[in-house]
Amino acid sequence: MGHHFCLIEGDGIGPEVVESAVKVLEAAKVNIKWERLIVGEAAIKKYGTPLPESMLALIRKHKIALKGPVTTPVGSGFSSVNVALRKEFNLYSNFRPVKSLPGVKTRFDNIDLYIVRENTEGLYSGIEHTVTAGVVESIKIVTKEASTRIAEFAFKTAVAQKRKKVTVIHKANIMKLSDGLFLECARKVAKKYPKIKIDDMIVDNASMQLVMNPWQFDVLLLENLYGDIVSDLAAGLVGGLGLVAGANLGKREAIFEPVHGSAPLIAGKNKANPSATITAAIMMLRHVGENKAANKIEKALFKVFKSGKGFTEDLGGRASTQTMTKNIIASL
Ligand code: NAI
Repeated sequence: MGHHFCLIEGDGIGPEVVESAVKVLEAAKVNIKWERLIVGEAAIKKYGTPLPESMLALIRKHKIALKGPVTTPVGSGFSSVNVALRKEFNLYSNFRPVKSLPGVKTRFDNIDLYIVRENTEGLYSGIEHTVTAGVVESIKIVTKEASTRIAEFAFKTAVAQKRKKVTVIHKANIMKLSDGLFLECARKVAKKYPKIKIDDMIVDNASMQLVMNPWQFDVLLLENLYGDIVSDLAAGLVGGLGLVAGANLGKREAIFEPVHGSAPLIAGKNKANPSATITAAIMMLRHVGENKAANKIEKALFKVFKSGKGFTEDLGGRASTQTMTKNIIASL
């Protein structure tokens, strides 16, 4: 039976890496009909809004989307389409596996982390206003409901993935109420999972510990903004943003995307590493039960990594996006 999914190419390097993933899926003979969505700057030009209702309706209908990065203007302009999508579909779990890859040389070996990020609230929501000229308030909302459900997700994931420990990363020494509530909810949920250990660490120390001794961590549970920052840091441990993908999961809808952004400096130059988006597609396939196809594509991707050849520039090679894609397809 075929699938009918949404496809968001996104901005910058988005169209290049998304096209690469689509080609790999086609070559692996996964039967997917794509509904191509326009969001962000292109949607503003065409529809006058970055996230038209007609696009939201398509995601609601097909439930699953593969998404490239979408540019968010810095300091002014429209609000993040990424944040809006996560809120609209209540995609409360952001799940990012970060693992060392065969053949990809980095400063660290044997990294195997699961990052679970609360995806709907916290300071990352961008709820801000000017109080008076020169004074701005940015509001951090933390609720018992959202903190509990993301903790549930983290512990369930720990059980499903046969992990031993969940570390809650926070700043509850300073933000005693908000991060305090996040931590308290995680501790309550942990009581239901006696086989999984829980510990916690203040986010600044956790950032240092991650680059000094990343092997001490297993599953990391973070509120939205810390999750955003720490998952980029963790991507750096395994070879960079061109390699790591994430799933945004709600009760009904799910959006799979690379962790990286639109990388404007290399956009349109056929230089982007498509691996993160291909990995997002692999996660998407596993989500819908296409495990055989997912394993096949992952094996082909790892074969290219193991060969140590045909890497894009971010991995120290000289291959183009298209060449790397061709190599992966040839390895299928
Ligand atoms: P970025 O992730 O686009 O780039 C950071 C660095 O990583 C740059 O040096 C870039 O060249 C490199 N890089 C990223 N992806 C790569 C790939 N696949 N292959 C090779 N090198 C790669 O982060 P930046 O510059 O902070 O953000 C650019 C734009 O992307 C912003 O508008 C931001 O809002 C947006 N963004 C969107 C995301 C999303 O749609 N989920 C996530 C992160 C940022």
